[in-house]
Amino acid sequence: SSDNVINIVEVGPRDGLQNESAVIPPATKVELINKLGRAGSRIIEAGSFVSPKWVPQMAGTAEILKKMDKLPDVKYQVLVPNEKGLENLFALLDENPDKPLVDEIAVFTAATDEFSKANTNTTVAESLEKLSRVTRASLERGIQVRGYVSVVITCPYSGKVDPARVRDVTKALLDMGCYEVSLGDTVGTGSPTTVSRMLDSVMSVNPVRKLAGHFHDTFGMGVVNAVTAVDAGIRTLDSSIAGLGGCPFSPGATGNVATEDIIYAFRDSKYRIAGDLEALVDTGFWISDLLKRDNSSRVAKAIRAR
Ligand code: HMG
Ligand code: MG
Repeated sequence: SSDNVINIVEVGPRDGLQNESAVIPPATKVELINKLGRAGSRIIEAGSFVSPKWVPQMAGTAEILKKMDKLPDVKYQVLVPNEKGLENLFALLDENPDKPLVDEIAVFTAATDEFSKANTNTTVAESLEKLSRVTRASLERGIQVRGYVSVVITCPYSGKVDPARVRDVTKALLDMGCYEVSLGDTVGTGSPTTVSRMLDSVMSVNPVRKLAGHFHDTFGMGVVNAVTAVDAGIRTLDSSIAGLGGCPFSPGATGNVATEDIIYAFRDSKYRIAGDLEALVDTGFWISDLLKRDNSSRVAKAIRAR
């Protein structure tokens, strides 16, 4: 049954690359997306329509969407912060009527005003108001909307986060029409104890089948937090190839939990999870080498060392 399926949202091309300071050629991003699709990723976050002044690395997303192969069994998603971003996306879709370039968008807010202001220059309440307009316009065009809540455990600007805030912001995103909300441990301080406490609160009013886990691996807790989320009933996890990533507005936070590590963690379990581990390991080393970065996946390094 579908209860045994764990879905991975591959956020490497977006969360993984947005924090890189060196210019990455569009052809490299296109090849990364294509390699991930061929390695079995089923949902790929391909980029974002944010302000190029705020996040220069994502400026070429339109070009990347036009050039990538759009595989029929893969869903492609982009981050949209506001109406301006949605306008830019719609203009691109109108220019390319024969090729549906994206399947869904993702909107994002936070559990604290401090982070929300640093990330999108708005309070949480203001951002929810703006995002409800974005969500309505996207749904009217037939494009599904995913939501993100950042800083569900700790905020880099205001410290420990009250789980009740995460619960309420999650509900607001679901109420406005998001089909799923991804809970982001942006800073990566979470542990099974604090993640469980947060999930108990969020799940007290929000259906677990509409929740996803997004764990940054700064403290090395990404895998155990993902397993904790699955034990609590969550069936969608965000991860990044080679553990790439970080948010430019969360100083010191490292990348997402590595896709390779998540797949390995659930190998031979009762769960089914898409993705060819060997092809993903190759892809992770390919992009890490190009970025001159150490591969952050412990599983990938262990497999390569054998
Ligand atoms: P702002 O400066 O307040 O925007 O930024 P504004 O509305 O005042 O507009 C200022 C100028 O920007 C105008 O241009 C707008 O047209 C333009 P001007 O008139 O000066 O020439 N503009 C845009 N241009 C392109 N695309 C747009 C756009 N919007 C306005 N969408 C804004 C507000 C939201 C745009 C900005 O703060 C922003 O882009 N923030 C995004 C930050 C970001 O991308 N963060 C990383 C992704 S979130 C994340 O990583 C967390 C997550 O992984 C989960 C987790 O780990 O927690 C999802
Ligand atoms: Mg993130």
